[in-house]
Amino acid sequence: MDPFVTLSSGQRMPLVGLGTWKSAPGQVKQAVLAALDCGYRHIDCAAAYGNEQEVGGALALRVGPGKSTLLIPGDCFAGWRRSDCLPQELSREDVFVTSKLWNTKHHLEDVEEACRTSLAHLGLSYLDLYLIHWPMAFQRGKELMPRRGDGSVLYSDTHYRDTWLAMERLVDKGLVRAIGLSNFNARQVDDIISVARYKPAVNQVECHPYLSQANLLSHCWAVGVCVTAYSPLGSGDRPWALADEPRLLEDPRLGAIAQKYRKTAAQVVLRWHVQRGVVCIPKSVTPSRIEQNMRVFDFCLSEEDMKQIQSFDRNERFIVPTVERDGQRVWRDAEHPHFPF
Ligand code: A2P
Repeated sequence: MDPFVTLSSGQRMPLVGLGTWKSAPGQVKQAVLAALDCGYRHIDCAAAYGNEQEVGGALALRVGPGKSTLLIPGDCFAGWRRSDCLPQELSREDVFVTSKLWNTKHHLEDVEEACRTSLAHLGLSYLDLYLIHWPMAFQRGKELMPRRGDGSVLYSDTHYRDTWLAMERLVDKGLVRAIGLSNFNARQVDDIISVARYKPAVNQVECHPYLSQANLLSHCWAVGVCVTAYSPLGSGDRPWALADEPRLLEDPRLGAIAQKYRKTAAQVVLRWHVQRGVVCIPKSVTPSRIEQNMRVFDFCLSEEDMKQIQSFDRNERFIVPTVERDGQRVWRDAEHPHFPF
């Protein structure tokens, strides 16, 4: 199977990339090095993750004239043309780097500066893809999460359609090759398309077997927007995980399928994503898992197993930030007019 998808912008984006959300400074550099050394050519970043400088440190060690990857021998490239995927020297063009515009930077006057800051932190002259991280805009400023005294978030009334116009200027200026969205619902995707000079290349959303996103996927594909799954393994390490919540990778039904293919539950889930044409960005800071997560192109799930995994859907969102209100946990931004869910 072709391990790339072609975006509406014409770029080829690797179906598996390394996620860096929750990868702590002090850990993420080694993770990116391990990923590049075992064949990853796609790194997913965001200003809000607070670790772009360290990701940039790793890129600087591997990408550019005279720098090379230390390739781990093995079959992680099964099905790939070796001549295509084992370059001795990695050029900037070989690696697909995504970053995201944070909610405090939606104002037209802030977008370019935010992009340039991510570029400087990553040590790059352009991004392959730049996404609006969420449709809601927060109050402008340096604070990541501007809040009132009572803890509630301060929003601003900048509309994401206006932010999109500023994003398009980044393409015109050559700072980014493509632009896209994250956490947008189908109506909001259409809303952007209705004003766009450059159609969004990607919508990056939470997606895994417990939240299979069938309707959103069909919609995005019908309008030519590629979908990237974040938290593709169910993000067991999310900060607000509750002790009694279901753990996707411990689901015995997945275990049974994994045993049949002599793969791990994580590999089965990732194969399910790529086999349905969804780009995925599993996060790991563990070299053995990073390598394992790339080894999903040397087996194929039967149609029956694909359908069975699809049937695990319980429309369960793990990643909507929650807060405590009147003794109950509620979605933090639920009252915002642009809240997507
Ligand atoms: P770690 O980073 O300690 O290796 P998601 O990408 O859905 O957010 O999931 C990330 C979580 O899944 C992290 O806790 C990560 O752990 C864990 N993880 C990543 N790859 C694997 C794997 N192959 N097997 C088990 N857990 C994994």
